[in-house]
Amino acid sequence: MRILMIAPPGGGKGTQGALIAAHFDIPCIVVGEKLRDHVARQTELGQTVQSHLERGELVPDEIVMDLVREGYIAAKSAGGECVVDGVPRTLAQARAMYVIGVDLKMTANIALHLAADDKEVTRRLLARAVVERRADDTEDVIRQRLELYHQVTHPILTWYAERGILVSVDAMRPASRVGREIIVALAAMRPLVDYVPEHLRQPVDLTGLDAAFGLADTDNATQG
Ligand code: AP5
Repeated sequence: MRILMIAPPGGGKGTQGALIAAHFDIPCIVVGEKLRDHVARQTELGQTVQSHLERGELVPDEIVMDLVREGYIAAKSAGGECVVDGVPRTLAQARAMYVIGVDLKMTANIALHLAADDKEVTRRLLARAVVERRADDTEDVIRQRLELYHQVTHPILTWYAERGILVSVDAMRPASRVGREIIVALAAMRPLVDYVPEHLRQPVDLTGLDAAFGLADTDNATQG
């Protein structure tokens, strides 16, 4: 199972990606973290991308794709499954990932969309800023990251829906509850994903699940 995490900043890619990786004991390729690590160590790459990260802009595709390829190669030698947090963010990156996937026989079979609104993710990122002080967790930069998400990342969901590998989850609920729903869905899909021919794949929309079971109104931030 190879899962691409797609969500707005603060949508929970890191939180849920780590949970999925730990639960299924598969590697997690966290591109933002790799970039921040280069910045912290002031490597040549770190110096190149630092201003992009600080301004909430996308770093050049070739840098991102090199990191993805490197991560995929490591994941392949660890069994071939993985979670990818943070890529793709544009249609060009989605296509480039597909090419790398075909090359390594590791095309993604799930694009996991965590749906959350701007107000909620802004609240989360400003709360994180107090604790972690990430350079890009300021109001202005969060606004810029969200704008980019809506302009260039959100549209790629259509591409994954058309390929039948999109799974959408309501990520407005407490993290533990979102995580449980994801793990249950992935555990059911995992034995099948490699064997369903592309033309038979269907997108899965779980965002209305709570409403269907009359649970939507019972959610609040204090629930586990
Ligand atoms: P990246 O590090 O990927 O940042 P991001 O996309 O802005 O996402 P975040 O890490 O802020 O949020 P998240 O969705 O992972 O949520 P998290 O789980 O952390 O990228 C940083 C930068 O690197 C980019 O701006 C760009 O410059 C560059 N970059 C990266 N990938 C690139 C690419 N493909 N192309 C070009 N450039 C690229 O949660 C956030 C907070 O919310 C946490 O405090 C968490 O505890 C909390 N939280 C999570 N879920 C919940 C919940 N359900 N309820 C309440 N709180 C929650």
